[in-house]
Amino acid sequence: MPLFLPHFNLQKFNTLAVPAFAAYFVSVKNTEELREALLFARTENLSLLLLGGGSNIVLQDDFPGLVVHIKHQGKEIVHEDDDHVWLQVAAGENWHQLVEYTLANALYGLENLSLIPGSVGAAPIQNIGAYGVEIKELLTELTALDIRSGLSVTFTNQSCQFGYRDSIFKGALKDRYVITAVTFKLNKRPQVRVEYPALRAALAHLTQTEITPELVSAAVIAIRTNKLPDPADTPNVGSFFKNPVISKIQHEELKLRYPGIVAYDAGEGQIKLAAGWLIDRAGWKGKEAAGAAVHKDQALVLTNPHKTSGQAVLELARLIKQSVFDQFGLWLEIEPRVYP
Ligand code: EPU
Repeated sequence: MPLFLPHFNLQKFNTLAVPAFAAYFVSVKNTEELREALLFARTENLSLLLLGGGSNIVLQDDFPGLVVHIKHQGKEIVHEDDDHVWLQVAAGENWHQLVEYTLANALYGLENLSLIPGSVGAAPIQNIGAYGVEIKELLTELTALDIRSGLSVTFTNQSCQFGYRDSIFKGALKDRYVITAVTFKLNKRPQVRVEYPALRAALAHLTQTEITPELVSAAVIAIRTNKLPDPADTPNVGSFFKNPVISKIQHEELKLRYPGIVAYDAGEGQIKLAAGWLIDRAGWKGKEAAGAAVHKDQALVLTNPHKTSGQAVLELARLIKQSVFDQFGLWLEIEPRVYP
């Protein structure tokens, strides 16, 4: 029986370091314990917060329900052919440690996703992506527990309905499943991907054949370390907003007024704008307001330097949204999930 801890301070379990309390907290390391936790929540009529690394949540208040910390560990090769290995990884594994493990075992594909905070089980929910690669390109299937029935089910890549920072687990199936394991199809032969501008620039001194996955990983780590604050020193949840996706026509209009606007082709006649550039241009970089702050090197990252309430960060986010709307006519969308 896992231990249910009442009135539990979540400050160490969310990377914004918000000192909010959970009515109950439990760590589960396998499906049996998870089922017991779900039963406890149902019996006590408690709402659920499924916690991985706590690197993409904003606690705007105490959580009046049960926080379930997913700690399932383990990696297993479930299939292999001449070119690939299918690696099944338990949801509670740390994401970056998995990337390091794959590189150490000459399994390639995850290198661009180095140093992303969080757990393996949380990664598919928002289809984590960085430096030109998204997890949806490597994930073949995942296992999840149906919260209502307690049954374990398999989702294929297609049934996860991945999009930019999006999946079915944020939409139609929000709060319906607990992801317990994820399977990745990894390459035995390196196929480096360096089309993302900042990454290409960092490796510009090398020819394509000289670039190894290990060098890609090292370059991504260097870029991230340079630009993004370490949550251990400066509490943050990475990008606080999604990059807005707009039509080509809208982009042409904005470009006339702001020739320097940073944009990427998002396919299907759509353009993705760099929200960091918009916020920066609106004058927010390095500013402090409402008790929270905008990071000095990357305006898309809000920080909680005084480790105060999540409400302070959300108030700053509201001010930024309003000012970006006033200047560019676009409403930014918050990326992390807000609780309760
Ligand atoms: N920019 C500015 N000012 C800023 C920030 C950015 O002008 O203050 C410009 C940069 O110069 C660059 C462009 O905006 O030309 C894009 O910046 P960056 O490469 O840092 O990427 P991003 O679009 O801001 C996204 C992801 C990050 C991911 C990077 C790299 C989202 C919401 N964010 O950021 O993901 O690491 O690309 O792929 O898509 C996260 O989700 O938490 C996260 C950190």
